Amino acid sequence: MIELPVSIRARVGAGVALVAAALWVPAPASGANEEPGVGSAMQEVYAALHFLLPLALDLEEFSSEERAPAVREALARLSTSAAAIRRHAESREAGAIYVANVLARDAEEAERAFSQGRLSVAGYAVQQTLESCVTCHSRQSSRDAGISESFLEDPVYETLGPEQRATLLFAVRRFDDAALEYERALRSDGLEPALLLGSLVDYVTLCVRSLGQVGRPAKILRRIARRDDLWLQFRDDLIYWAEILEAEAHEPEVVSLADARRAIERARGLGIFPSDRRGLVHYILASRVLHRRLANHENPVSAEHYYLLGIAESRIGRNEWIAQSHFYLELAIRLDPTTDVAYRALALLEEELLFEYGVTDLSELPGSLRDRLAELRRLVLRSKVGA
Ligand code: HEC
Repeated sequence: MIELPVSIRARVGAGVALVAAALWVPAPASGANEEPGVGSAMQEVYAALHFLLPLALDLEEFSSEERAPAVREALARLSTSAAAIRRHAESREAGAIYVANVLARDAEEAERAFSQGRLSVAGYAVQQTLESCVTCHSRQSSRDAGISESFLEDPVYETLGPEQRATLLFAVRRFDDAALEYERALRSDGLEPALLLGSLVDYVTLCVRSLGQVGRPAKILRRIARRDDLWLQFRDDLIYWAEILEAEAHEPEVVSLADARRAIERARGLGIFPSDRRGLVHYILASRVLHRRLANHENPVSAEHYYLLGIAESRIGRNEWIAQSHFYLELAIRLDPTTDVAYRALALLEEELLFEYGVTDLSELPGSLRDRLAELRRLVLRSKVGA
């Protein structure tokens, strides 16, 4: 069986990040209204995945000669519907366009690899499309989808762990069921501490952003903190997060850019250790405001808005495959390279890339990425010199 994306939380290889980097796009004209018909594109993509995923999870099934024509047809449907989602996203904000591009890339890759007989690559690309679904659906609160009620009925899903089923439910917008499934996973002592964190981040993000139930995770966080196999800092983080979420649940919801800035400053002030996660829930709370403001087409979107989102998403860390934070940082720079915000965004982007590629010098980054960074540096530094 192939691994699900949920279990590959580890930082992805350089090749993948490079492809994601190639998808950086300039800011679109914003302010358009929602287009009709996005629901039918979602239903199409859902139908394609409903058929493909059980097969992609089991290579033997995926490679059956008999099934090949039906698989090819479903892969074509996945690509076509991903392209339709991308077209619809063009009337939305830049973040939606970016994620839709990643989805379309993965769908095309799946179709191409299957036609070339590279079946494990194709199966993997099918699974990776889920990351785009979760990324887009987790950006703001919304209702559950009715059509995905029978989603997990295929027996192959019974072989998955609850944390993997939870991710699938999140991807197809069964938010309530996903939360229950994450709670099941997080309550069991079976999940190793190191794996726990990925599911926990997704669970808190789901509750805060998609469900709007800020206080809900507190109970589970306190329960996990009672485990005796956790390192001290992690245990203290859990208790701190529970306290903050409980307190926030009783406060009026924050809505302004200034609120998001304050939450991020608070989070940044908490770091003591190199791998500090203490600020996590502040970043999630800040990202809720920032995503919501973007989705509401509140104009104009400032460079600082994208910069703050870049910081928040990079610290939430749910973005190795999608590389959202890079994208937001680049937008912050391009929107107005003359500002101090652009300078700080560039500094952070450089640091992130050095860390992700595990290199100590910009010259060791892959060529196309190096060129792109050099272009951004020229934009920012030229404006400094001119000042
Ligand atoms: C670019 C952002 C974006 C991406 C990528 C995306 N979705 Fe959606 N999806 C949405 C939005 C926004 C809605 C909600 C529309 C509404 O409720 O008004 C939605 C709704 C849905 C619905 C509910 C449709 C209905 O009729 O109730 C399903 C099912 C769905 N998406 C499945 C998926 C799947 C599966 C993927 C990944 C292959 C995916 N979506 C990728 C943004 C996205």
